[in-house]
Amino acid sequence: MDISSILQGGYAHPTSRKWQASRQLTKSMFMYPIFITDDANASTEIATLPGQRRWGINKLEGFLAPLVAKGLESVILFGVPFNCAKDGRGTPADDASGPVILAIKKLRSLFPKLYIACDVCLCEYTDHGHCGLLHGDGTINTPPSVERIAEVAVNYARAGADCVAPSDMMDGRIKAIKRGLMDAGLGNKCTLMSYSAKFASSLYGPFRDAAGSAPSFGDRKCYQLPPSARGLARRAIQRDAAEGADIIMVKPAMPYLDIISDAAQLTPDHPIACYQVSGEFAMVHAGGAAGVYDLKTMAFESVESMVRAGATLILTYFTPEFLDWL
Ligand code: PBG
Ligand code: ZN
Repeated sequence: MDISSILQGGYAHPTSRKWQASRQLTKSMFMYPIFITDDANASTEIATLPGQRRWGINKLEGFLAPLVAKGLESVILFGVPFNCAKDGRGTPADDASGPVILAIKKLRSLFPKLYIACDVCLCEYTDHGHCGLLHGDGTINTPPSVERIAEVAVNYARAGADCVAPSDMMDGRIKAIKRGLMDAGLGNKCTLMSYSAKFASSLYGPFRDAAGSAPSFGDRKCYQLPPSARGLARRAIQRDAAEGADIIMVKPAMPYLDIISDAAQLTPDHPIACYQVSGEFAMVHAGGAAGVYDLKTMAFESVESMVRAGATLILTYFTPEFLDWL
């Protein structure tokens, strides 16, 4: 055999195998998505998301203190209100006594060093379940949507969020949010993480069950990206970077590794986030339960693929497990 044929000597040992990664997994790469509801004492299992619950603010300390002790550094909050009047403009989104703003303040006092991100969208708070404001014919009315999304983002930042992360996919919202943060004196304090390449995926089902945010009619295909659209994703990434995004996100993650890789090349000077969404998490669990693979091994393989593609930050429901595994 030729000298150039032999590679296996380079990865024969578990330690030399670790060196084959261009970047090692670390605990700080993981951001944990958390559902906050408006019953302060809630701890309600979510049937389609193994191990995940909807939490009331009185339960946050007991739930998160052990994770913070294990090295949890960041969370992203999703509000799930039940006792509120949803309307066309998502008024409850930034209610000062609503679950998200109360949770920001509570977490800030409980865990002063925890990085608190907030998803910013209207679908959990609109009576029609769409992510923006609508025209009479049911299509998105972009200017007031952007204005409202920016208002909500600024109110989360005012409440103490370290990061606002708009997932609505309205055109122009990054610029409007950045401007809003600057005008509020928070431009230097609050990160703007854009769900830049967010696809109209079938993998959001468990989340929509958990958050009660399924649209009451139609779908999200006129604002979330078509799954085939690599070019549009590249344009959205570049646009959002130009509009002032501090972090670029790709979502979902595993079926879109090429897009993560594109993002890492197009915006090499930004952190690149990806979201292993609810349906991906449920898939990994379902395969494990069906005996297709060992769950932990597959969970590692899934996040290694994202880091290999170029992700520096991973939003995943597996975060508590990785805090144990790493
Ligand atoms: C709200 C939002 C969704 C997710 C994050 N923010 C659902 C959607 O767009 O329908 C999905 C997260 C997940 O599936 O884990 N816009
Ligand atoms: Zn939404």
